[in-house]
Amino acid sequence: MMRRTRATAATYAACALLLLGAAPAHAFRPSSPVVVPPDPYFPLSGNQGYDVRHYDLDLDFTPASHLLDARAAISAIADRPLHRFDLDYSGPAVQQVLVDGRPASYQRSGQKLTVVPARPIRAGSPFIVRVQYRGTPERISDPTLGDYGWINTPDGAVALNEPDGARTWYPLNDDLNDKATYTFRVTTPAGVTALANGEPDGDPQTRGGRTTATWQMRKPMAGYLSMVAVGDFTVTRTTDGGIPNITAYDPAGGETDAALHRTTAEALAWEKKRFGRYPFDSTGGIVDRIGVGYALETQSRPVYDGAPDELTVVHEIAHQWYGDSVTPTTWRDIWLNEGFATYTEWLWQEDHGGPTVQQTFDGLYATPAGDPFWNLRTADPGRDEIFNYDVVYLRGAMTLHVLRTTIGDRDFFALLREWADTHRYGNASTRDLQGLAEKISHRRLGPLFDAWLYTAAKPAPPS
Ligand code: ARG
Ligand code: ZN
Repeated sequence: MMRRTRATAATYAACALLLLGAAPAHAFRPSSPVVVPPDPYFPLSGNQGYDVRHYDLDLDFTPASHLLDARAAISAIADRPLHRFDLDYSGPAVQQVLVDGRPASYQRSGQKLTVVPARPIRAGSPFIVRVQYRGTPERISDPTLGDYGWINTPDGAVALNEPDGARTWYPLNDDLNDKATYTFRVTTPAGVTALANGEPDGDPQTRGGRTTATWQMRKPMAGYLSMVAVGDFTVTRTTDGGIPNITAYDPAGGETDAALHRTTAEALAWEKKRFGRYPFDSTGGIVDRIGVGYALETQSRPVYDGAPDELTVVHEIAHQWYGDSVTPTTWRDIWLNEGFATYTEWLWQEDHGGPTVQQTFDGLYATPAGDPFWNLRTADPGRDEIFNYDVVYLRGAMTLHVLRTTIGDRDFFALLREWADTHRYGNASTRDLQGLAEKISHRRLGPLFDAWLYTAAKPAPPS
């Protein structure tokens, strides 16, 4: 699902000229009103010419060999005539590509799989691409972003894709603005457990010593939030607040799951009261021995590398509203994820006998102006700094606190709810947040946003 049309820098320039009146209005009519250029931090991710509606991923995985035998069916709609198109893919060897059932020719180059269908696809037509591939997927080890993508574990594997790791295990349109629904059909040796985003579709089926578990994510999801986890897991399932709460932990990790299950339910109930309707149909969490050193807010069911503390659970559940349901338009705006999730931790602490939000803010604001804490810009930190804890997480949360003290509690908490409501299942930018905050508060907030988000220096004390 794409609310905006992606374009290369060249077509973007052409559209800009068109808007400026340099070309006659009939020369090029974009199908949607807004044209966005490739992501400034991950320009190789995302493709043009089609809009994905659904991914059906059939994954046969054997933990002992870490061999993946997979078929991905991608349902999409062409937004222009397609003689060829690209998918983001850097996974194991491709065996076959079919478009609407006919063998297509294909070519791999870098992180792209280019597909040439036997017959061109007409503009506006739905089509299905089937890609069959087989081998052992490998993680991405990035010098600044760390390890992500398909992570093989001692007893299975976990996929953690943020920011552009989904291509290590399936072909996709890895564009933040092209969300789609997903079906995961994971087959393993009997006795091995497979989990994914969303809800199980019936009980796992065992035949000839292999078990297939089916999971459905029925709400739109960006590729970086998709997840499967395979291995030895102890699973707890209850119904909390009317939806399934499914948590799992690897018993070999030595921990138990009781705290995770309860904290997930508590964080969800507490956050629903503040942020409004929970956007997904289930919740939960997965604890595994992964060794990447971070947790990830995979849609509906976060993944934790070892047993999480309470604040980490609060943080990842907050992302379900801020990040997963409302997703930034570009990676430059990742503070919209991390600042909101970190601010939620501060609110939770204050409400549970910890320091007040003001005390947390004051402690951080005392950081001297010359400290690297104030280097870089929170709302455009640079590709290598998207997970910079000081710049993106802490200064992001501080920005929200300054916004709150400026517009007042009533408008601020209305803003949190309306942000989640207005952009549910969609994408939004920092300027959209400013616009909504200005609309709710009837104030001009440009100077505040500029000082706190677009300046690489300590802002003047909030008045
Ligand atoms: N978004 C995750 C969080 O909420 C952090 C992900 C870090 N990812 C990475 N590749 N280093 O904290
Ligand atoms: Zn986070």
